[in-house]
Amino acid sequence: MTSLFLSFRFLLLLTLLCTITTTTTTLAQPAPSPGPPGPTNITKILEKASQFTTLIHLFAITNVGDQINTQLNNSKQGMTVFAPTDNAFSSLSAGTLNSLSDQHKDELVQFHVIPTFISPSQFQTLSNPLRTQAGDSTTYKFPLNLTSSGNQVNLTTGVVNATVANTVYTDGSLAVYEVDKVLLPMSLFGPQPPAAAPSPEPEKEKRKKSGDENTTASAKSSEGVALRRDLHGLVGGAIVFIAVFYL
Ligand SMILES: *[C@@H]1O[C@H](CO)[C@@H](O)[C@H](O)[C@H]1NC(C)=O
Ligand SMILES: *[C@@H]1O[C@H](CO)[C@@H](O)[C@H](O)[C@H]1NC(C)=O
Ligand SMILES: *[C@@H]1O[C@H](CO)[C@@H](O)[C@H](O)[C@H]1NC(C)=O
Ligand SMILES: *[C@@H]1O[C@H](CO)[C@@H](O)[C@H](O)[C@H]1NC(C)=O
Ligand SMILES: *[C@@H]1O[C@H](CO)[C@@H](O)[C@H](O)[C@H]1NC(C)=O
Ligand SMILES: *[C@@H]1O[C@H](CO)[C@@H](O)[C@H](O)[C@H]1NC(C)=O
Repeated sequence: MTSLFLSFRFLLLLTLLCTITTTTTTLAQPAPSPGPPGPTNITKILEKASQFTTLIHLFAITNVGDQINTQLNNSKQGMTVFAPTDNAFSSLSAGTLNSLSDQHKDELVQFHVIPTFISPSQFQTLSNPLRTQAGDSTTYKFPLNLTSSGNQVNLTTGVVNATVANTVYTDGSLAVYEVDKVLLPMSLFGPQPPAAAPSPEPEKEKRKKSGDENTTASAKSSEGVALRRDLHGLVGGAIVFIAVFYL
């Protein structure tokens, strides 16, 4: 009788446990999200701001605009765009854009895009050089440095100094900042290192080092050769001497 009662209590406990587990599982499931507000469209954002027609054109011909939209949709890092105004583009010297190949146009445009979201408050804590979508941020390639103090934010590429004039758009995932200059990268517009000088230097250094490691061995072997040559000379000389003496 007692054992029956006990097993009944056990069964009750088991049922209770099961119920709790089920409830917990149900609760752990994420609540349905309210749904994304539709994909962000950088072109639409720039059109609204109405002073970026050249940049819109460049985004279109290089496909960088679509790339930004896709990347925003697919990554959680967000993006930042430094958007030069039409005035910035028209103050470039004539033919600057037209002289660029398609690939260089692409690099120029990518140089204005950072593959992370940077809020205005984060400007204070960034470390230089920034990494842009153009890639390699070393000295002669695509370095972009940002300095900020209070509300003032400056950018330098090593070729031009620009100022962030205004926040065009920010939504926690995409930030668009107006800049007063086209950011001309070193790689395309700056001085380049003398072609020959820097690269053969490490080569020479390497050769010298490996030479050092082997000097003893090679010195010994050449000593041996020299000794043998001397012996030859000596014997040869003696024969000649004797021959001359007896003639
Ligand atoms: C983005 O906006 C532009 C201009 O409003 C439009 O032409 C383009 O089709 C849009 N792109 C997408 C993917 O919706
Ligand atoms: C955004 O991403 C979702 C899921 O990753 C995909 O189904 C959708 O086609 C993407 N939209 C665009 C405009 O890339
Ligand atoms: C930004 O550049 C201006 C000159 O264009 C300079 O006066 C100012 O000190 C700079 N500010 C910062 C934070 O670098
Ligand atoms: C950018 O900042 C880095 C690190 O401080 C520095 O080495 C480099 O010279 C700077 N480049 C330019 C163009 O100011
Ligand atoms: C950019 O600013 C630095 C100092 O902040 C200055 O030395 C340099 O000459 C400026 N470059 C241009 C192209 O104005
Ligand atoms: C040193 O010489 C030996 C034999 O000539 C060679 O096998 C070795 O690779 C050399 N080492 C270096 C560092 O050049």
